[in-house]
Amino acid sequence: MATWIITGGNRGIGKEFIHQLLSKNQTVITGVRFPEQMDFKHELLSIFKLDVSDSQSVTEFAQSVSQHTEQVDVLVNNAGRMDGRWQTIGEVDPDVSLDVLNVNTIGPLRVTQALWPLLEKTGNSKVANISSLMGSIDDCLSGRSYAYRTSKTGLNMITKILSVEGQDSDVSVSCYHPGWVQTDMGGERAPVQPHESVEGLIGLIEMQTIERSGRFFEYTGVELPW
Ligand SMILES: NC(=O)c1ccc[n+]([C@@H]2O[C@H](COP(=O)([O-])OP(=O)(O)OC[C@H]3O[C@@H](n4cnc5c(N)ncnc54)[C@H](OP(=O)(O)O)[C@@H]3O)[C@@H](O)[C@H]2O)c1
Repeated sequence: MATWIITGGNRGIGKEFIHQLLSKNQTVITGVRFPEQMDFKHELLSIFKLDVSDSQSVTEFAQSVSQHTEQVDVLVNNAGRMDGRWQTIGEVDPDVSLDVLNVNTIGPLRVTQALWPLLEKTGNSKVANISSLMGSIDDCLSGRSYAYRTSKTGLNMITKILSVEGQDSDVSVSCYHPGWVQTDMGGERAPVQPHESVEGLIGLIEMQTIERSGRFFEYTGVELPW
């Protein structure tokens, strides 16, 4: 039985990850900003406090995890935020942009760094970064969304850098676009349901190996341009 860590498991794609993993009898740890507000429990699920934008919170989360388990097979860096979608150069707010970069880019780096000793110790372990096609420079045809796009491009680069370092540590690292998914972030018009996206993502993460490390896939398995 593998142990998975999902950041931001209280709603949206993260919550769906937890439901599907528990139904496969996997052990799950989630980090959420407000554990007391979690509206579901399970004997295979542990819930710890985590704000990925706060270094102290990440350190305390990693301490809670290491007191709880010696094994982390998969870390899914899922927590993320939008930037007030589709802003033009006249609309973008630099201070909000810094927070978006902190949550979406540095957040996954912080969490991965704090859990790296456990990932290395487990061996054959995986980091899956939930990115977005909006972070693809090649795909930036409609422009706008300076902060969100840049935060995911940065996450993609962090994925690539980590994948190189992970070769020596037996940790594979890849990033994934979940599709345009019907969640609070994706909105009601999104064509992909969370269960479809997460089913695809779990299948891909299960296939992730050191040989397939450092790559960028859509939930369907299609490889995406950087
Ligand atoms: N939905 C889409 O169409 C889509 C498309 C491409 C990529 N993605 C990516 O998929 C991931 C999940 O998105 P979603 O659609 O499920 O979004 P969502 O419904 O808005 O959920 C976002 C999750 O991230 C958590 N979060 C935000 N800031 C956090 C922080 N500082 N520390 C810890 N947790 C934090 C939220 O917790 P709170 O409840 O505490 O805010 C929530 O659990 C994100 O990385 C997003 O960028 C989504």
